[in-house]
Amino acid sequence: MKVALITGVSRETGLGFETARQLSQLGYFVIVSARDIYQAKSLAGPANLQAEQLDVTDPGSIEALCRTIERDYEKLDVLINNAGAYYDQGAHALETETAFVHEALDTNLLGAWRMIRAFAPLLQRSDAPRIVNVSSGAGSFHDPSFGIGARPGATPVYSITKTALNALTIHLAHELKDTGIKINAVCPGFVATYPGTAAYGARPVSEGAKGIVWAATLGPDGPTGGFYRDGQPIEW
Ligand SMILES: NC(=O)c1ccc[n+]([C@@H]2O[C@H](COP(=O)([O-])OP(=O)(O)OC[C@H]3O[C@@H](n4cnc5c(N)ncnc54)[C@H](OP(=O)(O)O)[C@@H]3O)[C@@H](O)[C@H]2O)c1
Repeated sequence: MKVALITGVSRETGLGFETARQLSQLGYFVIVSARDIYQAKSLAGPANLQAEQLDVTDPGSIEALCRTIERDYEKLDVLINNAGAYYDQGAHALETETAFVHEALDTNLLGAWRMIRAFAPLLQRSDAPRIVNVSSGAGSFHDPSFGIGARPGATPVYSITKTALNALTIHLAHELKDTGIKINAVCPGFVATYPGTAAYGARPVSEGAKGIVWAATLGPDGPTGGFYRDGQPIEW
């Protein structure tokens, strides 16, 4: 049985829950985690998933879940760093409070970093370990619509956290290359996870999640250290 862990699964219309549903349909046993265990439980029950509490900014919470998974499953096959927030639409870097930047980096960058460090030993016990960092075209230097510099003033902090997450992905791919762990950054595209966004061109959540599932289920010849959308490479 392949065991997958997804962070940031607190909403039925979020990418985390849809990714969990798709992975479970492929036969994976999926642990869905959220800061508020009751939100994860309310989603997990009907979908036959396991719910756990996890705050990616809290090392104690990460350590506790790591011990639970080691005790119950002895290994982890897939880690999906989906938790992310701080979408500062319309903000300006000059006016942004430093505390906000700290919090955003703590979740979007350091959260994934902590998770990978904590779970790397369990992932190394898998036959085909995979890490997916859910990133965004907003962190890309080349995305013509959402990328860095494409829309001056748009989501400066969020974008920088995703650029940093992409850089972390490249570094770790190099460091992990002899371990069998494949790690990639995935942009789901602009996805209708919040009401009203479809009217602005956001696509169905199921479509965005497919690219995450693709990277989570890569075969032995699959890539590592890349940036993908819908299973296709995109520019950093
Ligand atoms: N939707 C898009 O168009 C789009 C595009 C590109 C990338 N993405 C990325 O896709 C991922 C999922 O986003 P989404 O659109 O599905 O929105 P979402 O439902 O709001 O997902 C974000 C999740 O992160 C969780 N989270 C925030 N801080 C956390 C923490 N410290 N520890 C654990 N979980 C935490 C949130 O939980 P709470 O309920 O507790 O706040 C929420 O469940 C994010 O990384 C986002 O940046 C989304």
